[in-house]
Amino acid sequence: NIKACIFDLDGVIVDTAVYHYKAWKRLANEMGFDFTERQNEQLKGVSRMASLDLILGWGNITNKTSEEKDALATQKNMWYIEMINQLTPAEILPGAREFVQICRDAGLKTAIGSASKNTPTILNKLELTQLFDAIIDGNSVSAPKPDPEVFLKGAEAVGVAPAHCVVFEDAVAGIEAAINGGMKTVGIGSIDILTKAQIVVSGLDKLTLDMLAEL
Ligand code: BG6
Ligand code: MG
Repeated sequence: NIKACIFDLDGVIVDTAVYHYKAWKRLANEMGFDFTERQNEQLKGVSRMASLDLILGWGNITNKTSEEKDALATQKNMWYIEMINQLTPAEILPGAREFVQICRDAGLKTAIGSASKNTPTILNKLELTQLFDAIIDGNSVSAPKPDPEVFLKGAEAVGVAPAHCVVFEDAVAGIEAAINGGMKTVGIGSIDILTKAQIVVSGLDKLTLDMLAEL
C-alpha cells in the first residue's frame, strides 16, 4: 500500500520543457547549428551538463574545454531563468495542484524529486512549495536519473520505505530511476515512450487514488 507520492517537476507539475528548449536552441544557434523538437525529447530528465554534451554532439562540436562548457551552461541557464522568472500559477499543468492536494488529504506524504537546480525558484513562482513535505532536487543529488538517488532521498526525507512510494515521471530515465529504487511507477505522457511504467496517463488530471491502489 502506498504511503508517499514523489513527483518529478518538469513535465509532471509544469511544462518547463518548452523554456529549456528555447534556451538550448538559442545557445546552439549562436554556435551555428540547430536541433529539432524531436532531439529535444532526449533532453527530458537529463541534467544540465549532460544535456549540453548531447547538444554539442549534435553540432559536431568536440573542442570545448570544461571551462568553456561551464560558461555555455551558465549562459543557457541565464536565459532559462529569465523565462522561468515570468512563470505564474496559471502554468501549473492541468490537475497537478489538485492531485497533490488529494494525496495530502488522504494522509499520504508528498515530495518532489527533480534533476533541476532551479526547482526552488519554479515551485516558488507556481506557489506550490507548501504542498510538499520534502523537496529533493539537482542541488542535493550527485547521481543523475536513472540512478535512484533523488527518489531514495525523497523517500527517506518523508520517512517512507521505497516499496510504499509511487513516483510520477514523464521521462524514461525517471521511470527507470524509480524502478531501480524499488518504487512503484506512474508515467505521465505517452504509453509508447514510457513502456516500463506500471500505469501511464496523459496528465495528473486523468489520475485517481483508486488507480494507485491497484499498483
Ligand atoms: C530536468 C529537465 O527536470 O532538469 C531537464 O527535464 C533539465 O531538461 C534538468 O536539463 C536540469 O535542470 P536545470 O534547471 O538544473 O538546468
Ligand atoms: Mg521531467
